[in-house]
Amino acid sequence: MLSKNMPRVVEIRDIQQDNYRTKTFVLDTWVEGVPGQYAMLWLPRFDEKPFSLVDCDPVTFMITAVGPFTRLMHELKVGDRVWLRGPFGQGYRVPPSQRRLALVGGGYGVAPCIGWRARRCGAEQLDIIVGARTANDLLYLERFNGLDVGDASLTVTVATEDGSQGIAGRVTDALRPMLEAQRIDGIYACGPHAMLNALDDLGSQYKVPTQLSWEAYMRCGMGICGSCEHDGKVLCMEGPVLAGRG
Ligand SMILES: Cc1cc2nc3c(=O)[nH]c(=O)nc-3n(C[C@H](O)[C@H](O)[C@H](O)COP(=O)(O)OP(=O)(O)OC[C@H]3O[C@@H](n4cnc5c(N)ncnc54)[C@H](O)[C@@H]3O)c2cc1C
Ligand code: FES
Repeated sequence: MLSKNMPRVVEIRDIQQDNYRTKTFVLDTWVEGVPGQYAMLWLPRFDEKPFSLVDCDPVTFMITAVGPFTRLMHELKVGDRVWLRGPFGQGYRVPPSQRRLALVGGGYGVAPCIGWRARRCGAEQLDIIVGARTANDLLYLERFNGLDVGDASLTVTVATEDGSQGIAGRVTDALRPMLEAQRIDGIYACGPHAMLNALDDLGSQYKVPTQLSWEAYMRCGMGICGSCEHDGKVLCMEGPVLAGRG
């Protein structure tokens, strides 16, 4: 197998439309990785960008059209080819002492959360919280509700800022009562920085460990260019998942 640092060309096997600006791309290849890791997608003569692994086998990405690269990705069709490097970075690591986990995803931050298998991480309870601005922005609800968690228990809670679906408010509004009820051993999250900072505060307040996946501008993905520095950490290698203060 090629080094993970070497781009390799792969075909797009399937494309699904998730919402008005998000599509899931299934590639005709596999990698060995864990939830929270990311890979680089390269469109030659254009650009290369990082995306969380939704799945490793087959490699799957959920891509929201926010700018030039992601809009070009959305124009691709099944059978077109992209270049892939990875997987890179540190994913989520669940210590055996944590059996009751909260997975929190905001916007396209739900992508790394869907890769969880309760059986593999030893969890007996998964509380998933999916947040978005409006109901139209929600992602992967059907997939979360259908997640194979074996003997574990599963809840899926929705929070929208405009109240158009689920709890009216933010993911922290959904999580706080669970922390109050002492039903959570660990918080695992991905989403916008403001959301991660608020979850870090909550974890610290309730003394519940947090693992947070931070976004940064990534160019090389291998610790060379320095573009991904965050709080003194080289996120492409030491992150994107970092332990919080909780
Ligand atoms: C580890 C990691 C995992 C990611 N996973 C996903 C994913 O699963 N799905 C997905 O759709 N996107 C993901 N992203 C984000 C994606 O790589 C960027 O949005 C990418 O820059 C989009 O390229 P673009 O040319 O389309 O838009 P750009 O022109 O690069 O960006 C469009 C807008 O988004 C803002 N922006 C872009 N990237 C970032 C960033 N990293 N941090 C803060 N603001 C930013 C820019 O300021 C700009 O306003 C991930 C990023 C990282 C670092
Ligand atoms: S992306 Fe280049 S150092 Fe992290």
